[in-house]
Amino acid sequence: METLNETLNSMPRIGDTAPDFEALTTKGRIRLSDYAKEKWLVMFSHPADFTPVCTTEMSGFAQRKPEFETLNTELLGLSIDSVHAHLGWVNNVRKNTGVYFDFPIIADIDMKVSKLYGMLQPNESETAAVRAVFFIDPLKKIRLIMYYPLNVGRNMDEILRALEALQTSDKHKVAMPLDWKKGDKVIVPPPKTLEEMEARLADTAIERTDFYLAKKQL
Ligand code: BEZ
Repeated sequence: METLNETLNSMPRIGDTAPDFEALTTKGRIRLSDYAKEKWLVMFSHPADFTPVCTTEMSGFAQRKPEFETLNTELLGLSIDSVHAHLGWVNNVRKNTGVYFDFPIIADIDMKVSKLYGMLQPNESETAAVRAVFFIDPLKKIRLIMYYPLNVGRNMDEILRALEALQTSDKHKVAMPLDWKKGDKVIVPPPKTLEEMEARLADTAIERTDFYLAKKQL
């Protein structure tokens, strides 16, 4: 049996290649490496089916799926429940609220994927996955990780904002300041040489506080 330290040491980190796995989901068997090469993937865990906070979160993912699609991103859920439980919950939520979880949800009853991704954090719960979100880019690299405890739901605006920030940063080779959202100015990477610094100080097209802090409109 793996110790807590071994579990923590094997947790994937930002910049790592997302560990491959095969799993049973509500849309059949999937393998991470089979996901389309040009798409982003947001993979998220929830503690348990038929629980209140999880129902609000999963409904949030379902309702905002079109926005993820606009950002060329697939959704993949996970909990340590059976496919049978997932199907019952999906149908129950649809019946009660009209919201349909139309994305695959991994049935991780052997905890294989949750352990592989550090979603099982034994000091929080030994049997339920915490609320994790992994942002995986088209090269299958982990770009951002969120972990929330069992008793606090995530923020869908922030998940979408972070995804768009990552994609905008990649596309324009810029960085995103505090509270950045689409349409806001972005940070121009700081100069790395004296020559670049002089050029930055002479640049009148950017909003410059000093040579190391400058913003521009995309
Ligand atoms: C919930 O989703 O409401 C929940 C799940 C597990 C533990 C606590 C709350």
